[in-house]
Amino acid sequence: MIAKDIKIQPAEGKLGVLLVGLGAVSTTFIAGVELIRRKHSKAIGSMTQMGHIRLGKRTDKRNPLIKDLVPLATLEDLVFAAWDIFPDNAKEAARKAGVLSDEDVGKVGDFLEKIVPMKAVFDQRFVKNIKGDNIKAESNKLALAEALMKDMEDFKRSNNLSRLAVIWCASTESFIELAESHKSLKDFETALKNNDPSIAPSMIYAYAALKSGVSFCNGAPNLTVDIPALQELAMEMRVPISGKDFKTGQTLMKTVLAPGFKARYLGVSGWFSTNILGNRDGEVLDDPGSFKTKEESKLGVLDTILQPEVYPELYGKIHHKVSINYYPPRGDNKEGWDNIDIFGWLGYPMQVKVDFLCRDSILAAPLVLDLVLFTDFAQRAGLKGIQEWLSFYYKSPMTAPNLYPEHDIFIQETKLKNTLRYLMGEEQITHLGREYYE
Ligand SMILES: NC(=O)c1ccc[n+]([C@@H]2O[C@H](COP(=O)([O-])OP(=O)(O)OC[C@H]3O[C@@H](n4cnc5c(N)ncnc54)[C@H](O)[C@@H]3O)[C@@H](O)[C@H]2O)c1
Repeated sequence: MIAKDIKIQPAEGKLGVLLVGLGAVSTTFIAGVELIRRKHSKAIGSMTQMGHIRLGKRTDKRNPLIKDLVPLATLEDLVFAAWDIFPDNAKEAARKAGVLSDEDVGKVGDFLEKIVPMKAVFDQRFVKNIKGDNIKAESNKLALAEALMKDMEDFKRSNNLSRLAVIWCASTESFIELAESHKSLKDFETALKNNDPSIAPSMIYAYAALKSGVSFCNGAPNLTVDIPALQELAMEMRVPISGKDFKTGQTLMKTVLAPGFKARYLGVSGWFSTNILGNRDGEVLDDPGSFKTKEESKLGVLDTILQPEVYPELYGKIHHKVSINYYPPRGDNKEGWDNIDIFGWLGYPMQVKVDFLCRDSILAAPLVLDLVLFTDFAQRAGLKGIQEWLSFYYKSPMTAPNLYPEHDIFIQETKLKNTLRYLMGEEQITHLGREYYE
């Protein structure tokens, strides 16, 4: 299938990137982009910067860089702003986060110092373990949304930007269920006016972005845009949305390994996962409410990959356990352990152990970059509502109602690249390959 009547607006002018939260992930992303722009480093881990895409038959030998095929904004086009409950500028915040070396932060310190967070929309009931005072004074939720819209407008005007994109890189909010006020845009707007407690701060940011015609990506597991009301608004305003929860460390490994066991019909009886991490994200997740949001997001992946309902003998009795332990000495350098109990021919048991000494924000930063660039491209290509082709980047991908998400990273990658081929008028690749033998 080739797209015929898709007109893609060119990536002209500057793209403003608005980050909700100026913590470890955001500062690692911003400092990283500037280090790369100043030619100190390379964009390792980023598909938009390093990825190639095969086009046509294998014998055609067409394998351009994705950024040479797809009209993406360039790194030089990006301008940054953020909101945070702490007033620290991006240099101070990067130092506190302790992800990048003092030397790296110093190389771009002049640039980072100029990024000072705007006042945040915050409600302590949704994030218990941190306290800051860089917070907007409005007490009504609709007034707060309007204040955010004004921030976006001012940022766009004063920097002479042609487009904006918002991405949630703020703390994980407490677990909430879908409420009546989330079910339609009309009810949501009434609830905003009435200061309804079911509207979380992240939803106020998402509403403000969408209402302003600005895309929204959600890097945390909060419900946020994953509610019918905001999906309705995204369709109405013709704006792309995606989420939830960046797929980094342990879940990345899970969605790499599980498809392998499944492809070989190896059974899994247990998957025990535990993490130690000591950054502010770990501190927030030490609260049971925020941890529950994260746990739901982490637990979902195995079921859809392994399909226990289709393979009850192989995956019907899997015991899946996930825990996160806040352990300050490790800072952002998380350690994720997995013990996987598998079984093979005649039911003989085996074990796989994974000990991933990762760096959380080093894994997350390139995902922020790719999401911003692909979402901006999607908007210029006229795509609106949920962007399932960006599932590749998320632990808990958003999908159309009644559709199960694809968690297998290889299916997600194929889907992403086929979407790019489709939008750019190229044939999709099925890997059938009969023609080489006929
Ligand atoms: N690093 C990863 O690998 C990874 C992976 C998946 C998801 N995430 C999620 O990304 C988010 C950011 O992670 P991080 O390590 O940068 O955390 P962090 O704690 O370093 O930064 C989050 C920042 O958000 C701010 N904040 C909280 N509520 C806010 C609000 N309402 N408005 C504006 N700012 C607010 C905090 O003050 C803090 O500075 C977390 O929700 C985390 O769960 C991170």
